[in-house]
Amino acid sequence: IAPELPRVAVVGTGYVGLVSGACLADVGCHVTCIDKATAKIEALRRGEIPIYEPGLDEVVLRNVEAGRLRFTTEIAEGVADADVVLIAVGTPTRKLDGNADLQYVYAASEEIARALDHYAVVVTKSTVPAGTGFEIRRIIEGANPTLDFDVASNPEFLREGNAIGDFMKPDRIVIGTDSERARQTLEALYSPFTSQGFELISTDIISSELIKYAANTFLATKVSFINEMADLCEKVGGNISDISRGMGSDRRIGRAFLQPGPGYGGSCFPKDTLAMVHIGEKALSPATIVEAVISVNRMRPHRMVAKVVEAAGGDVRNKTIALLGLTFKPDTDDVRDSVAILVAEHLSQQGAHVRAFDPQGAAHAKSILGDAIRYSGSVDEALRGADLCVIATEWRQFADKPIEEYKRLLADPVIVDFRNIFSPDAMRDAGISYYSIGRTK
Ligand code: UGA
Repeated sequence: IAPELPRVAVVGTGYVGLVSGACLADVGCHVTCIDKATAKIEALRRGEIPIYEPGLDEVVLRNVEAGRLRFTTEIAEGVADADVVLIAVGTPTRKLDGNADLQYVYAASEEIARALDHYAVVVTKSTVPAGTGFEIRRIIEGANPTLDFDVASNPEFLREGNAIGDFMKPDRIVIGTDSERARQTLEALYSPFTSQGFELISTDIISSELIKYAANTFLATKVSFINEMADLCEKVGGNISDISRGMGSDRRIGRAFLQPGPGYGGSCFPKDTLAMVHIGEKALSPATIVEAVISVNRMRPHRMVAKVVEAAGGDVRNKTIALLGLTFKPDTDDVRDSVAILVAEHLSQQGAHVRAFDPQGAAHAKSILGDAIRYSGSVDEALRGADLCVIATEWRQFADKPIEEYKRLLADPVIVDFRNIFSPDAMRDAGISYYSIGRTK
């Protein structure tokens, strides 16, 4: 353990908080993760991980055992010896107006202020609109006028399903500060990474806050762009996979995030694109491109449903549909803003009998869809005797399953593949009617 590393408290032990806390402990920091949810903290103390994220359990257990990672519900206890306090509470979309809802961030700031009695850098890890850092400073000053502290921004760029890798081997680390002391503290915090050659970008607080939105909305833009190109391919002929490759091979464009699909989902892109539009509106600097990105994405579920209806011969009533995948992407149990859920809802409203299988997401899906659909315990169970199969999420096991088995299990060999996991040629050879995205041949 490097003794000079700052001691860390993480307020909010959700996805971002737990991954960040566990990974910082893993590089040698002493970390205390704080959360009000007693059941969650008790479970973590017993070594139970409340979210599904590959590799996270090992990192948590290893660091708890090493005495570097602790959990508490008491904020005062948690921040008692902290040099850095990370705010990692949620910033959901406010139903009323689509803005990022900052009530949890502000409440946490006030509690941190009251609990602190020594200098610390209070850092936002949560995705927060430009200017939030200043508001946090005002709140802390109001709640604890004599406290010596700094605020800073340090957005995270973790992808669900790949969070440990993204944290441990970051493309870049971004810190936004407005004092030398805060900058030095955060540089020390990330010294285990910078000493290995990972890039640290140090900027002001507003720029740091904006980098996160700019990065997420730009990635969402790539996805909506390629989805629109896929639609065009379907109209004029053309193969979107070749187009992605042809475009992406230009290093200025890059191959990543040019995979067409049912539209982006999850807890970040839909929320952050909306928030970006609101930030622009508030600043009288409209985010016109992002508005278009959102409207393209909003049309996707309807297009996907239309595709299924077409594949079913114009009517899904009384058809049994095997829906493979409910999560917004593979290797997660997250179904938030998952297009698969919307598609399942629409199809069952139109009279289809939807039978879904997902390796991790069924429990969460059930809490949204309830009995509107049925849930299968395996791919085979979902497929057996179904009139049509829809692949909504590109889980590895769906692609690994031999095409012949799909053919054998389905009553009618019809597959609608939102993720282009199979080759149209192989499907044709196997005698399966195959509908994918942006590939007419
Ligand atoms: C995203 C960002 O990728 C992370 O860098 C960021 O830290 C995170 O949001 C966040 O703000 O917390 P995540 O929401 O886990 O991560 O998911 P992504 O892997 O980015 O996928 C988002 C959606 O886009 C998924 O529905 C995915 O299926 C879709 N997508 C992605 C495509 O349809 N095509 C692609 O080529 C890539």
